[in-house]
Amino acid sequence: MSIENRPWVEKYRPRLLDEVVNQLGIIRRLKQFIKDKSMPHLIFAGPAGTGKTTSALAMVRELYKREMVVNRTYLELNASDARGIDVIRTYIKDFAKARPPANIPFKVLILDEADNMTAPAQQALRRTMEKYTKNCRMVLICNYSNKIIPPIQSRCVVFRFASLNDNDLKSRVRFVAKQENITLAPGGLNAIIEVSRGDCRRAINYLQSCGTISKKIDQEIVFRVAGEVPPDKIKEILNTAIEGQLQLSIKLLDDLIK
Ligand SMILES: Nc1ncnc2c1ncn2[C@@H]1O[C@H](COP(=O)(O)OP(=O)(O)O)[C@@H](O)[C@H]1O
Ligand SMILES: [Mg+2]
Repeated sequence: MSIENRPWVEKYRPRLLDEVVNQLGIIRRLKQFIKDKSMPHLIFAGPAGTGKTTSALAMVRELYKREMVVNRTYLELNASDARGIDVIRTYIKDFAKARPPANIPFKVLILDEADNMTAPAQQALRRTMEKYTKNCRMVLICNYSNKIIPPIQSRCVVFRFASLNDNDLKSRVRFVAKQENITLAPGGLNAIIEVSRGDCRRAINYLQSCGTISKKIDQEIVFRVAGEVPPDKIKEILNTAIEGQLQLSIKLLDDLIK
């Protein structure tokens, strides 16, 4: 796939910590880790599309710069690859065990969707974590930190990522739209924010889907793509019903379902 064909969520994934929107307190602490060349094991918890994976990768990039080489200095695994205990006993253990290159203080293992790992797999992970801490620090990414077994939790510093607020989402969507020469009608932007519910990945995906339909995005396109009913439509149907115009109300509802 050429770079131009990448999905926009990947194309516009922030590469630097400073480009990550909203999570200021977390970003500040991650930068301090980089400066100190020292960090504890981490848990990044929070809703989807808030910058957890992005921040982990940006931190690794800033920490290692040119030495950011998969398998040598860092490894990113999705827990669905690593759910089985075997992967932890072999692949992850081998990575954690091998000493980092001479000029590198420690390696980093990023484990996405860590809350999907079974308890025995997490126990195995805990042992690896403990045994090879000197060589390898872990960043466990999850939606809910309480799905991580307590002995791992107690070995990690937990960072909680918050949903992006409307203004931050808007500015990010506007930025991507501008880069891609998409015009956003004000109603279109608001609609994207509404259907995305604080999830930046979703917002950018909707923008891209709508962009394939039209270079000018209004509210109607967004709700159609999202398969949702515009709130105004619902209000109209209810109002006509309340006013006693039942035939009209039923017709509007029929049109909607068609
Ligand atoms: N805080 C953020 N700042 C800027 N872009 C973001 C942010 N959060 C998510 N995104 C966008 O959404 C995409 C998915 O983000 P990601 O970090 O993978 O989310 P998750 O929290 O689910 O790991 C990124 O590629 C980026 O385009
Ligand atoms: Mg993620």
